[in-house]
Amino acid sequence: MNDSWSKLERLHAEVAERSIFGLFSDSQRFQKFSAETNGLLLDFSKTNIDDVILQNLIDLAEEADLPAMREAMFQGACVNTTEGRAVLHTALRSREESTLEISGKNIRPEVRATYTRMERFAEGIRAGGIETPGGRMFTDVVNIGIGGSDLGPLMAVKALAPYHTGPRCHFVSNVDGAQISDTLEKLDPRTTLFLIASKTFKTVETITNARSALKWLEAAVAGDASGHLAAVSSSPERAADFGIAEDRVFGFADWVGGRYSLWGPVGLPILIAIGAKRFNEFLLGGYEIDQHFRSTPLRHNLPVLMALVGIWHNNFCGYATRAVLPYDQRLEKLPAYLQQLDMESNGKRVDRGGSPLKMASSPVVWGEPGTNGQHAFYQLLHQGTQVIPAEFLIAANSHEPDLKEHNDLLKANCLAQSEALMRGRPLKEARKLAAGAKTAAIDTDCLAQHRTFPGNRPSITLAYDKLTPFVLGQLIAFYEHRVFVEGVIWGINSFDQWGVELGKELASSLLPLVQGAPADEKDGSTRGLLVKLNCM
Ligand code: F6P
Repeated sequence: MNDSWSKLERLHAEVAERSIFGLFSDSQRFQKFSAETNGLLLDFSKTNIDDVILQNLIDLAEEADLPAMREAMFQGACVNTTEGRAVLHTALRSREESTLEISGKNIRPEVRATYTRMERFAEGIRAGGIETPGGRMFTDVVNIGIGGSDLGPLMAVKALAPYHTGPRCHFVSNVDGAQISDTLEKLDPRTTLFLIASKTFKTVETITNARSALKWLEAAVAGDASGHLAAVSSSPERAADFGIAEDRVFGFADWVGGRYSLWGPVGLPILIAIGAKRFNEFLLGGYEIDQHFRSTPLRHNLPVLMALVGIWHNNFCGYATRAVLPYDQRLEKLPAYLQQLDMESNGKRVDRGGSPLKMASSPVVWGEPGTNGQHAFYQLLHQGTQVIPAEFLIAANSHEPDLKEHNDLLKANCLAQSEALMRGRPLKEARKLAAGAKTAAIDTDCLAQHRTFPGNRPSITLAYDKLTPFVLGQLIAFYEHRVFVEGVIWGINSFDQWGVELGKELASSLLPLVQGAPADEKDGSTRGLLVKLNCM
């Protein structure tokens, strides 16, 4: 461990018990421990971080070589060492003209050319220039993909519902036939377009769903169903083998990781839903954060600060999970999207050199929109035995000006929760309440214990004007860079995902057993379950 790490451990021991609320005796605390770029505000003043701790966290990032690593990523160095790849999803949203080379080839012309094709295709579907084989407009688009080929576009399409001006978008990801069955049930095959999205084009769930979709089409439309198909993949050959016309395949390079891919062809459902003008605003939001992240001093750099707060909570305070709580219903899929972004990127046990990590890596990420979560799991946030840092998101303006009362209540609840987590309710106050509401079953002191809130629970708040395409672009790029910074500080490769392999291999070897092959080699539990599931 380096100097700053040990220093931060000592600092934590010194301040662990102090009151976060007490830190607000500094009337400038909010100004000091918040940062803003282009309308996006990060407030981390409701944490136990002070000037000294923040400076040491910044030193930690410097010692981990963050500025150099950041530049290496933006310039296309082989940052994803275990897969021998650059990491350049930022190039998909870049407005820059300067040459950006991978293996001696400038990648910018290809990025632009692919985008132009995507835009033409999307606008064709939206305006009717590209028709169904039967000469009608497409009314519905079904994205078939999983993980990074699903969660990003699904989350963004839901988030940007007020901007939808195109055909309806649906998403099928799970190999569970229930999902495709329920989705297709309400669709007309004659006016449905399938986008088959798979970076590798060999993910079993996606290929299985795509085959079922094709069967459904072939049973209903006369002749060739290929006019109802398009694909998004880094493996155009495999897409062609599936029967998808070459001009309907949108490729992207291996330097775009699946969970970072919604800025390019994987974002086609978003482009089809909101159109090119709005999609460009989305890209611009991401690009604005890239510039901010790349050039702003660490002390004022939003993704860096957010990452440092995460490191403080995870590694020094020992909080093993973090809750993502959007007070913005249209961000309902943000927690699921961030689960992949954070946990697939940073859920690692060895450092870049292959040595076991000496510290905790990715926390468990989970959450639900407010106010729904308040009536479900917030009890634990306030009075449970674990401290869970909460990450609130809230807009100043909604898309429903006529429903002001709703919006006022939403804001009041969001602010109330972060205040309640911080301030709690002391025993003394709980005693007064308990005395006034005496029940026969329990004495006042006992009831007061139940009604006490320990408080001193940290939270951060991200606030923005309105959930526009630009703001969504900012938010996603911001989270991507937070993941990168945390990974750099832990010394890990955030861009591979070897941990998903074993389960996939075992699933393919278990398939014959599920279909009746002998399972003698398997453990007792697996055999018992095979019997229960009617496989033996
Ligand atoms: O199994 C994990 C994973 O490889 C993710 O990293 C990826 O986003 C997802 O599967 C889907 O992969 P593909 O886009 O190649 O179908």
